[in-house]
Amino acid sequence: MDHHAKYPGLSDLKARARKRIPHFVWEYLDSATGHEATLKRNRTKLDEVLLRPSILHGEFTPDLSTTFLGRDYKLPFGVAPVGMSGLIWPGAERLLAQEAARQGIPYSMSTVATQTPEDVAPYLGEDAWFQMYPPRDPDIRKDIMARARAAGFNTLILTVDVPVASRRERQTRGGLTQPPRLTGRLAMQAALRPTWLNGIRKTGMPRMKLMDSYAEQTTSLSSTEHVGYLLRTSPDWDYVKYLRDEWDGPLIIKGVCNADDAARLQDEGVDALWVSNHAGRQFDGGLSTIEALPHVRAATTLPLIFDSGIEGGLDILRAIALGADFVMMGRPWHYALGALGDAGPAHLADILAKDMVSNMGQLGTKTLKELPARLL
Ligand SMILES: Cc1cc2nc3c(=O)[nH]c(=O)nc-3n(C[C@H](O)[C@H](O)[C@H](O)COP(=O)(O)O)c2cc1C
Repeated sequence: MDHHAKYPGLSDLKARARKRIPHFVWEYLDSATGHEATLKRNRTKLDEVLLRPSILHGEFTPDLSTTFLGRDYKLPFGVAPVGMSGLIWPGAERLLAQEAARQGIPYSMSTVATQTPEDVAPYLGEDAWFQMYPPRDPDIRKDIMARARAAGFNTLILTVDVPVASRRERQTRGGLTQPPRLTGRLAMQAALRPTWLNGIRKTGMPRMKLMDSYAEQTTSLSSTEHVGYLLRTSPDWDYVKYLRDEWDGPLIIKGVCNADDAARLQDEGVDALWVSNHAGRQFDGGLSTIEALPHVRAATTLPLIFDSGIEGGLDILRAIALGADFVMMGRPWHYALGALGDAGPAHLADILAKDMVSNMGQLGTKTLKELPARLL
């Protein structure tokens, strides 16, 4: 079915998802921290990035392909790690892994996903990335890396912008606990979203299954003090060294917005940096990621991933123009799932590709490499 007539843009998917995802889950997915100034700044600063169109290029088909960490991709974007993905939409981890494999784009799975590496193994494509929130216990660290590797994850992401839990006032007000429980007000909200609820009846109530396999304490905790936090530590430079020694594939550090950190991480021998402010979910007083990107770009020759606030193909072009090599998205894939279920991720990928093609036609750029020269 062609969804473009009814849902031509991400905003259409977001509006429909909101009507199909229970309110307390929506607040988890859609909120940031503090006054959400950084969340808004991510958007407004992207809009301020202007590109120069060029005319009279005749007919051409823009080439959206790129190379990243030695691999060729037809599309320059992928799926960022999202904790409790399967709570946002039932079966989300499987659906996103499957669609990423079909599209030949990276799928990243969170440490605090609702599925284990073994659960998603059958659905992984060749670009399966495992995101690590750093376990404190060295045995658990090793075991998680071994399990991810055995399941088919070939790239390791260490997320460093969650040194501590953030306040996430809106998420807290929403009432989500970990593991989630459908009681009282939350049960009533769920009852108003029958497609979601039927899906959850089939999958069972989502939990952080990988974390549960190591934790003794899995009773109900607040959504910002859950089992994941009991096991993890605040990583330091030695932790990066340790992972660099232990992991024999590409190692990406996620949550880098500062030039000095970028330069030092390159010296540590990591393979790529991921410029992200966690979509404004951690700290409400920093730069937008699109403002941070040129500083990081100037400080390192490492390949750069960009995320936080991408809402369409034009935003992807903007990030590439400012020095990103690859672009990831978290919430948009989940808006797509919420709106259209199984069909959502493919439709979103199509929206993004069409949007890139249209805007590259306007710019008169045939390849992504030409974009930086179009920056105004
Ligand atoms: C609901 C939610 C959960 C997230 N969980 C994780 C996580 O477990 N690990 C991680 O590294 N990043 C996590 N992130 C951050 C995303 O990986 C990504 O950086 C961010 O969503 C990008 O912004 P976007 O949603 O505007 O695309 C999460 C983001 C959201 C919205």
